[in-house]
Amino acid sequence: MNNFFNKNMKFGHFDDSNREYVITNPKTPWPWINYLGNEDFFSLISNTAGGYTFYKDAKFRRLTRYRYNNVPMDAGGKYFYIKDEDTIWSPGWKPCKTELDEYECRHGMNYTSIKGVKNGVSANALYFVPLKTWAEVQKLTLTNHSDAVKKLKVFSFVEWALWNAAADMENFQRNFSTGEVEIQDSVIYHKTEYKERRDHYSYYSVNVPIQGFDTDRESFFGLFNGFDEPQVVAEGTPRNTEAHGWSPIASHYIEVELNPGESKDLIFVLGYVENAAEEKWESKNIINKTKAKETIARFDTVEKVDAALADLRKYWDNLLSVYSVNSGDEKLDRMVNIWNQYQCMITFCFSRSASFFESGIGRGMGFRDSNQDLIGFVHQIPERARERIIDIASTQFPDGGCYHQYQPLTKRGNNDIGGGFNDDPMWLILGTVSYIKESGDFSILDEMVPFDNDPATATTLFHHLTVSFNHVVEHLGPHGLPLIGRADWNDCLNLNCFSNDPNESFQTTENKTEGTKAESIMIAGLFVVYGRDYVALCKRLGKADEAERAQKHVDAMIDAVKKYGWDGEWFLRAYDYFGNKIGSNENEEGKIFIESNGWCTMAGIGQEEGYCDMALDAVKERLDTPYGIVLNNPAFTKYYIEYGEISTYPPGYKENAGIFCHNNPWIMIGETVRGNGNRAWEYYQKICPSYLEEISELHKTEPYVYAQMVAGKDAFKPGEAKNSWLTGTASWNFYAISQYIFGIRPNYDGLMVDPCIPTDWKEANITRKFRGATYRISIKNPDSKSKGVKQLMVDGKTINGNIIPVFADGQVHEVQAVLG
Ligand code: BGC
Ligand code: NOJ
Repeated sequence: MNNFFNKNMKFGHFDDSNREYVITNPKTPWPWINYLGNEDFFSLISNTAGGYTFYKDAKFRRLTRYRYNNVPMDAGGKYFYIKDEDTIWSPGWKPCKTELDEYECRHGMNYTSIKGVKNGVSANALYFVPLKTWAEVQKLTLTNHSDAVKKLKVFSFVEWALWNAAADMENFQRNFSTGEVEIQDSVIYHKTEYKERRDHYSYYSVNVPIQGFDTDRESFFGLFNGFDEPQVVAEGTPRNTEAHGWSPIASHYIEVELNPGESKDLIFVLGYVENAAEEKWESKNIINKTKAKETIARFDTVEKVDAALADLRKYWDNLLSVYSVNSGDEKLDRMVNIWNQYQCMITFCFSRSASFFESGIGRGMGFRDSNQDLIGFVHQIPERARERIIDIASTQFPDGGCYHQYQPLTKRGNNDIGGGFNDDPMWLILGTVSYIKESGDFSILDEMVPFDNDPATATTLFHHLTVSFNHVVEHLGPHGLPLIGRADWNDCLNLNCFSNDPNESFQTTENKTEGTKAESIMIAGLFVVYGRDYVALCKRLGKADEAERAQKHVDAMIDAVKKYGWDGEWFLRAYDYFGNKIGSNENEEGKIFIESNGWCTMAGIGQEEGYCDMALDAVKERLDTPYGIVLNNPAFTKYYIEYGEISTYPPGYKENAGIFCHNNPWIMIGETVRGNGNRAWEYYQKICPSYLEEISELHKTEPYVYAQMVAGKDAFKPGEAKNSWLTGTASWNFYAISQYIFGIRPNYDGLMVDPCIPTDWKEANITRKFRGATYRISIKNPDSKSKGVKQLMVDGKTINGNIIPVFADGQVHEVQAVLG
């Protein structure tokens, strides 16, 4: 293992009382980003103000341009250039890279503020998207701390994208001729393609008179300069250019004079407008600016902006008040109470579409991903979860299969990727059941939901669950185990693909579709867990026959796993196309995998026979590392055409023996099922970012959010993370810690209290709002146990069992659980 990183290298610190991460060194090991907006209008912003903005869909409605994988990294964003005599600088250090006297970036809940100080002037740029607003607001506060008068020249900068982010990056023969803008007063409007098929434009305004502007990129930068040295800024004189084609930008030029001690605020609004066909124009070729002006007016004073920020903070106070813990461990509390829940909101909004690792054009909303994201989000805003479930289910097919992804703007299934991922349908049961358990709202099951977005096919959501369940039952292989299709949860286990052509996608290629036999033991475990949920739901609904029918299939699956899915010391992973075992001691590489062992132990399959204990011990012995649990071992060292993409990754990366953080909680939960709280907690801490802050130089990605993957023990640099933010890791870890380690689990009839904690925790306190009441739950552990509630008292009265009833009385209830 390599140890060539600085062990004590932090780039900032947590400020828990403000719910912020404070970055004090702009040269983080990778851009450390944040997300603005939480409903329709979004921005990504790095700690040096890099990033971009879009409306709803990062592919189809990109407002500002961003070049991924650029040199240097993270170039392009929402920049301010300040010219103070001969010194040109930016509050975020980049793009100018003029050394600052002070720098601080505060990433908070849907807002970021970046402050730089240079030669006695401080510039604080606050960025956020106000609630229910199709715009990003930027407040730039300039203060003169020196004893001389300062005459500053301020230039703003954004670069427009021509809407479709994919076409924007490739169709230059057209793009360089289409760009159009309008400039009126202090507002620059971007209206490319508005005159024909688009009903939308964007704009960038400032709340003071401007002394000039630029909208033609090459005129602003000069043909040979980068973002760090715009020619116009160096000269200190705007050119008042109007873009015609080429690359439209928006830059305001503002002269600011500050007396010693004086402070001034400039408010910029970067917004988006849609106009109905008959309202598009003010006069010939002049766009109707009414809506833009209305939005600009909502934020034209500091008071209005501050009030909007206060509203946003209140919104988050409320969201985060639903579940909070007081454990005495600040690293744990800040993850559970703030950052992990925040990341769950972000994954809910974006699925896997737009991060600094997902380009925003590759993927829309994932069927399996979005369902899993719900388990970390549903308690925050159940109504939005409800809507999402219906959107997702609408992309299902009548046979229970489904589109693997859909576009957020159109909500239509994505034909390029299609379906055939045989785990997908089961996740809809998880998503729906989680929603009902949280909200108690069974009426969602009666909603009429179409197949493949065709209203003529609408049927109840409950029926969608039935066909989901049946899809597995109707696709069983020779061992009675689920057929894997293109892949199961592990997108890279492509057992019917057999690809020799580097231009083929592993995810969509099935060169062997005839008589495919490849089976997944991971889906088998998944089916047992959510099949049981389906049975329980049927019973609740009084559908006894259906419950009985389904139970038989679940039992049959358990038998099949015990018979054909057990390898002697752990659960097999799969059978390949030829019926050979994968994840068996018989294999030379890939002897053991995390996923099937997670799901089968969560399902408790073979618990009586000791299978779960053996499997979890084998995971500990063979897959655990100082940085988390790797996906498989030994790593694949050559390409196995019959396995697919998994064997294409170098050992230790991604699905080939990387620490794929998404699935670590499956083992944590498996450990809680068998009552091993010490283990569950050990695994939790290993991948939890707040515990990794000190090794930021190695870890590389943000210490406040989970990354999808950390390099495994076979990699060159074990412990190095990639793909932060958009990962199922967020919701699964929140689910594991909140519902299985602290053990506060929504149930149809109330709130179950079933903790599984480390034996040396003496006490833990949780506040949970649930269906109209607040529960203050204190868990006491006098006998150093892990699991087993021996006494539960609610408001001083002992309750039988471990389920707190639903009071729905708006009151606070005191709950005491004693382990023993
Ligand atoms: C990645 C997976 C991802 C898949 C689909 C693969 O290359 O390794 O993690 O889910 O592509 O985009
Ligand atoms: C990331 C994908 O978004 C997810 O759907 C998949 O389960 C994992 N990669 C594992 O391959």
